[in-house]
Amino acid sequence: MRVADARDPTPFGSHNSVRSLCFPDQARVHPLKYLAGLARAITQRGGRLFADTAVESATEEKDGVLVKTRSGTIRAADVVFATNAPIGGSVTVHTKQAPYRTYAVAALLPRGALADALYWDTLDPYHYVRLQPHSEAQNIVILGGEDHKSGQADNGQARFAALEGWARERLPNMGNVTHRWSGQVMESVDYLGFIGRSSPSDQHRYIITGDSGQGMTNGVIGSLMISALIVDGHSPWTKAYDPARMIARNVGEFLSENLTALRGFAEYLTIGDIGRVEDLRPGEGALLRSGLKKIAVCRDEQGRLHAHSATCTHMGCVIHWNSVEQCWDCPCHGSQFAPDGIPLNGPAVAPLAELPQGHRLEAAE
Ligand code: FES
Repeated sequence: MRVADARDPTPFGSHNSVRSLCFPDQARVHPLKYLAGLARAITQRGGRLFADTAVESATEEKDGVLVKTRSGTIRAADVVFATNAPIGGSVTVHTKQAPYRTYAVAALLPRGALADALYWDTLDPYHYVRLQPHSEAQNIVILGGEDHKSGQADNGQARFAALEGWARERLPNMGNVTHRWSGQVMESVDYLGFIGRSSPSDQHRYIITGDSGQGMTNGVIGSLMISALIVDGHSPWTKAYDPARMIARNVGEFLSENLTALRGFAEYLTIGDIGRVEDLRPGEGALLRSGLKKIAVCRDEQGRLHAHSATCTHMGCVIHWNSVEQCWDCPCHGSQFAPDGIPLNGPAVAPLAELPQGHRLEAAE
């Protein structure tokens, strides 16, 4: 990759004296158009796509993989988990990456107000900005950032407001915010994704994860690498992206990501968030303490109350309510669960446990 001369400041809205590194000759793809083209190419070549078919397990056998889904069993020669956080294979990859929640907003911006590029800053929390062509007079500006570790904050509205404030200071002629959303990013400890065999002993199970916000690019790299691994048995990039690679650098960060998991277990000893279930309003969720157990209670936007064990079904950490996405997030490895306990995002595949029949939701101690 070529890096342009970094001596000249980069113009950025009203803050026009920012020193930066510039990577020229970048491409911009529209993610949905790209995905639609990909789906078309798969079906035109005889592939079949199944939505709403949750995989519960994928067991490597002598000549392939046995995949169990909620609606049936599939035998496959090879299986690739390209699912943000992988649900199969070795658990060690989960100790080398951490789930972060990121926020984004979009608004109209007059053409010419900002040079067309994808920008990242290096603040903590950081920001990223790009333009999407909209009309002859306007672009859509997409701004993201204000990330935090999954499950460690539930103040999404404040983060959206901070993003908008940061943008207005720099782009005063930006229109009203028209869209807001958030997503989960798997950040690898050494900043490079994990692409390859899901564990050194696997011959037919592959993973693509640790995309660190570069999922569109990593997806393409992953498709080139894994097709080469399946067809030829090797790829020139295997070593760099190997999920089993030792992480020699950023040891402090490595320990801190794993401390999140330890804290997740220690939370069983802390008190609950609320005293009375009656205090929950629609759209709110909280933890109740029940002896040494934690109960996850939420009231959905229709006012229905849901109560489940707060123990993540992946490896047992305590889950936390996410009021922006209206789901439960696990801070340890990124699992997410719907209010009714169904897993929405791996690595967990099993729903949250139901409470024993007749269990009374009591005040926290
Ligand atoms: Fe691993 Fe929850 S995602 S313990």
